[in-house]
Order: sequence, then C-alpha cells, then structure tokens
Amino acid sequence: MAVSYKDLGLVNTKEGFQKAVKGGYAIPAYNFNNMEQLQAIIIGCAESKSPVILQVSSGARKYANQTLLRFMAMGAVQMMKDMGGSIPVTLHLDHGDSYDLCKSCIDTGFSSVMIDGSHLPYEENVALSKKVVEYAHAHDVTVEGELGVLAGIEDEVSHEVSHYTKPEEVEDFVKKTGVDSLAISIGTSHGAYKFKVKPGEEPPPLRFDILEEVEKRIPGFPIVLHGASSVMPQYVEMINKYGGKMDDAVGVSEKQLRKAATSAVCKINIDTDGRMAMTAVIRKVFAESPKEFDPRKYLGPARDELIKMIKYKNENVLGSAGKATY
Ligand code: G3H
Ligand code: 13P
Ligand code: ZN
Repeated sequence: MAVSYKDLGLVNTKEGFQKAVKGGYAIPAYNFNNMEQLQAIIIGCAESKSPVILQVSSGARKYANQTLLRFMAMGAVQMMKDMGGSIPVTLHLDHGDSYDLCKSCIDTGFSSVMIDGSHLPYEENVALSKKVVEYAHAHDVTVEGELGVLAGIEDEVSHEVSHYTKPEEVEDFVKKTGVDSLAISIGTSHGAYKFKVKPGEEPPPLRFDILEEVEKRIPGFPIVLHGASSVMPQYVEMINKYGGKMDDAVGVSEKQLRKAATSAVCKINIDTDGRMAMTAVIRKVFAESPKEFDPRKYLGPARDELIKMIKYKNENVLGSAGKATY
C-alpha cells in the first residue's frame, strides 16, 4: 500500500528552497545509511536549528532495507519533535537513475527525489526527467534534475571525467521538464579525491562563471551542488595517523562553499565528510583500545564527532543554522 510522506511528517523542498535562495544560505543534504548517521544528523540539525534533507542513495536503500529506512525517517521526525524543535525534514532520493526507482520511493514516503539523467543524451534526459516530474507532482513530491556530469562515482555510475553544465541548456531543460531544482556541474566531484594538487597548493577554484551564467538564465531558480565535501584536513590527518591511507585526499574549500551558499545554490550535498569523520574516530578507538569490542564504544564516539561536524558545517559553511523556521 502506498504511503504519503505527509503522513510521515515530512516536507517537500519547495518552501525551504525559496527561503534559502532569498536568504543566501544552503540547506544541508546529509547522506545516511545507518542509525548512528541518522541520529547525528537529527541531533546536529536540531541543536543548530537547521532545516535538513535526509538523503538516501539507491545503495543506501539496498544496504539498510527500504522499509526499515522509511520507519527510520518517521522516527527521525518524531525524535526532532521530542527534542522540542519543529525542524522541517525532507526525505530525498539521491541520484535516482530510473523512473521505477523514483516512483517506488514516492510510493514509500519520500518527499523529494532526484532523477539523474545527466549521463544520457540531452533529449533522453529531458524525457525521463519530465516523466518523473509528472508522477511526483501528482503526489506533491519535488524533483531535482541534473545537467552536466560530475567526475567520480555517482552511485553505481562511474565517470572518469566531468562535463561542466552548459548554461545555454538550463532554461530549456527547466521549462520542458518542470523540475523544481537543478544540480549542476561546476568542478566538484564525488568522493575524497576531488583534485590532484601538489603539497601546499590550493585546489583549483570552482567555475563560478558557469554558476553566474546559469543564474542569469533562470533567475532565482534553486541550484544544487553535489560533491561538496571539504575532505576536512583534520580527519585526513587522523585517519592516516591511526593506520589509514588517504594521503592524496582533497576536497572543496570551505571558502568556495560559503560563496556558493550565498548564491542560488540552496542545497549542498555532503556524504564523504561524514564518512571520514566517523572513520577517523573509529580508527582512533581501535588503535588506542585494542581490547574494545562493544560497538557502542566506537560507534558512539563516531556519532558524537559527526554531530560536531554537522553543527560546524551548518553554522560556518552553509549558513543554515537558525533558519529552521518555515
Ligand atoms: O553521490 C554519491 C553519494 O555519496 C552516495 O554514495 O552510492 O556509496 O551510497 P553511495
Ligand atoms: P561528497 O562525496 O563530496 O560528499 O558528495 C556527496 C554527494 O554529492 C551526494 O549526492
Ligand atoms: Zn551526488
């Protein structure tokens, strides 16, 4: 039987994105796959009073079980309420690659879906995105489309090189498909190895010229930035110190992300940073307490670190802290 997100206490992204674009901040979209990640997102966002998008990839859906995930999201909304806040929570499908997957998510309580047809020829991307929008809008679910391809791993689709978004396509795409937001490619990529830089060198800047051109063509339209982890140096250092090997890991600078957040970019996707924060702490516990075998003794501190990271990002990078008022 189909379940509406409204019965789960979730919201779509419509109102939140309008406020974020006008207010010059971005709503965080944090990926989760398990209970500790979800707890950290809820606590981090409730304590910093930030709206939040709980983001689920098809890999996460397979990993955690789709029914369990839905009940976890319901629990997240209730836990937020118990904490005394009224934080708007969106449950979003990340990188949906087919109409059937998007439909299945809409039918099982997602309030927002991404249809990622970015690897398809333009007209096929338009046709697929339009089909998803028609079903989604009939259920008051919002849809994120994508133009341009990010390098790295997009769920199960891997791209060796990125293709920047062509600004001349965006107006036509948005008009023909009816999508509610658009992910664009301006130089970010997924994962922990976003740029190749020599020690001491800064990574190259994002293509803000493309973003500005997009904004001119579709003024005020909500833009999404994928691959937006900073690959925080303290976690790279900690992982390497306690037996890991992530020497060449480099992400997007916080300065660049702050600049993006003040523009029409109203959703910033973060997965890698959360994975690294937890891994760093788990490695430390294992290295310092080799006799420990209670998962709560390493997952607990990992969760605490993730809460700290999320609050830091909401407050200092995305500007979403204190904005949970819609
Ligand atoms: O865009 C990719 C996200 O980080 C999700 O990653 O497919 O490994 O769950 P995943
Ligand atoms: P990161 O790998 O930079 O965290 O990007 C995550 C993302 O874009 C999820 O869709
Ligand atoms: Zn992504």
